[in-house]
Amino acid sequence: MKLLLLGANGQLGQELRRALPEVGEVKACDRYEVDLTDTQSVLLALETFNPDIVINAAAYTAVDKAETNCIQAFSVNADAVRFLANEVEKRGIWLIHYSTDYIFDGRKDDAYRETDPTNPVNVYGESKLAGEQAVIAKGSKYLIFRTSWVIGKDGNNFAKTILKLASGHDTLNVINDQIGVPTSPALISKVTVSAINAIKNGDAWLVGIYHLAPKGKTTWFGVAEVLLDIATNSNIELSTRTTQIKATITAEYPTAAKRPLNSCLNTDKLAEYLSFELPHWKDDFFVTAKSIIKEFKAV
Ligand SMILES: NC(=O)c1ccc[n+]([C@@H]2O[C@H](COP(=O)([O-])OP(=O)(O)OC[C@H]3O[C@@H](n4cnc5c(N)ncnc54)[C@H](OP(=O)(O)O)[C@@H]3O)[C@@H](O)[C@H]2O)c1
Repeated sequence: MKLLLLGANGQLGQELRRALPEVGEVKACDRYEVDLTDTQSVLLALETFNPDIVINAAAYTAVDKAETNCIQAFSVNADAVRFLANEVEKRGIWLIHYSTDYIFDGRKDDAYRETDPTNPVNVYGESKLAGEQAVIAKGSKYLIFRTSWVIGKDGNNFAKTILKLASGHDTLNVINDQIGVPTSPALISKVTVSAINAIKNGDAWLVGIYHLAPKGKTTWFGVAEVLLDIATNSNIELSTRTTQIKATITAEYPTAAKRPLNSCLNTDKLAEYLSFELPHWKDDFFVTAKSIIKEFKAV
């Protein structure tokens, strides 16, 4: 099975680069090898490698910057995905694509199901939703994994920012009224490998959207608290201790992009296909946090 991985340098891309060789021959392309917005480079990779499955981990993910870089966000997350989906469909091969909890408006009390109405509250969410719709419109062999709050050991993310801030400040204000679920690229990769194995074995999962996140839920404050606890127990020198993180509310921390207040994803549909249990977010996050902390040098 030949697997073309796009966006191989992102948080998820780097994890997939490590995980995918278990299930096939991988050509991993970062943005410099295949720019998703450059149709010629996409075509060249498809024609020369001739993959059975394209795994698209490339995306414009700068949520706040997307508010002013709307054209770029739509170009990568929607227009380029439409072109890719069309080319994949022409070749009769599979597309595995990733989307986000930010396609919901956050007004629901419970976790969102795949069938719930979408209504993004920011440009990033709008662009990712347009990408999903393009895949669905063009493709007959696709899986879209909607995931949330991706925090991995590679690239930049919330956990690394909190550790840096905690090493230079006595107190930190962290938002405590946005509810969601941190998800490791390792878990997303594990699910992707399962889905590819099913395709290989001729028992492909039903085409469509799947919500992918660990169990449980928390807030950004909850994630920061657990992270700093793990850091303290790992003897990392920080100015901020868990007792000195202050819970704040979204209204007191204005950002360019609005965020949904609830972006928990119901994963019942995915669980039916998996041969392993989705972990609780604290167990999933613990492994990531430990490896981030190991690499961390206090500033
Ligand atoms: N991060 C989150 O919290 C989060 C939450 C929910 C869903 N997701 C979704 O999960 C997926 C993976 O996200 P992630 O956290 O791994 O994102 P990431 O770390 O920002 O990685 C995205 C990668 O896409 C690459 N890229 C951007 N524009 C490109 C282009 N025109 N052509 C080719 N590559 C391009 C980036 O390249 P450079 O390295 O050169 O910039 C980067 O390596 C995305 O679909 C994202 O929307 C993410």
